[in-house]
Amino acid sequence: MPSVPRHVAIIMDGNGRWAARRKLPRIKGHEHGADSVRAVVRACRDAGVRYLTLYAFSVENWVRPPAEIRALMGLLEQFLKEREDELHKHRVRLRVMGRIEDLPRAVQRELRRVMSATASYGEGQLIMALSYGGRTEIAAAARAIAHKAQAGAIRPEDVDEATVAAHLYLPDVPDPDLLIRTSGELRLSNFMLWQLSYTELYVTDVLWPDFREAEFRQALEAYGRRERRFGDIKPC
Ligand code: IPE
Ligand code: IPE
Ligand code: MG
Repeated sequence: MPSVPRHVAIIMDGNGRWAARRKLPRIKGHEHGADSVRAVVRACRDAGVRYLTLYAFSVENWVRPPAEIRALMGLLEQFLKEREDELHKHRVRLRVMGRIEDLPRAVQRELRRVMSATASYGEGQLIMALSYGGRTEIAAAARAIAHKAQAGAIRPEDVDEATVAAHLYLPDVPDPDLLIRTSGELRLSNFMLWQLSYTELYVTDVLWPDFREAEFRQALEAYGRRERRFGDIKPC
């Protein structure tokens, strides 16, 4: 029985290209991408993946045209409204990683509402990375540690990896075991720079709106064939 990753993180990329290939507006790509989110959430549940982190909007994505940003935020609100029942049914906890305060008020409200309504669930966690940047996250952790040091609550010589990890957005979430990036780009685009240090990478040319259960299963199968060594000489 191949090992199942405990935590899968996904850079959901290629919505715009999917639409462009069909001569459709980019928004249509995002709409179909939202269906892939639904499919992958279900597939995670079926496979027994406990944590799913989805990179939905980066700190850099704010430079996009306002109409596209509005459409993405609208889709997010719609997703929350439509999927809340399913989160309750399967006791999945929704969490956000990123600068939630940057998001439109209505979206923040909806996110906070669903997050608190699902806060006690432990079957699985759906983590949405929103207005997220890996460097922003690490800088915020450094700032928080510096404040504590200034206040005398921590000694600079005691700051180690565990201290930094404890000041990230979601310190209780284990590092991703598998990172999937769709649409073939070979870069991290500022995603989870700290947490991905020993994560297995899986890049597929499939565009996000075409990435469904079968593609997800393939990624899990590829993960099952990997040898994780963590610097050692034999697989762990
Ligand atoms: C991913 O698809 C969605 C977001 C980044 C919000 P893109 O919109 O980046 O699609 P491409 O990369 O232009 O094809
Ligand atoms: C990464 O995709 C961000 C998300 C998927 C939310 P981008 O499309 O923004 O990444 P780059 O700009 O191609 O690196
Ligand atoms: Mg892109």
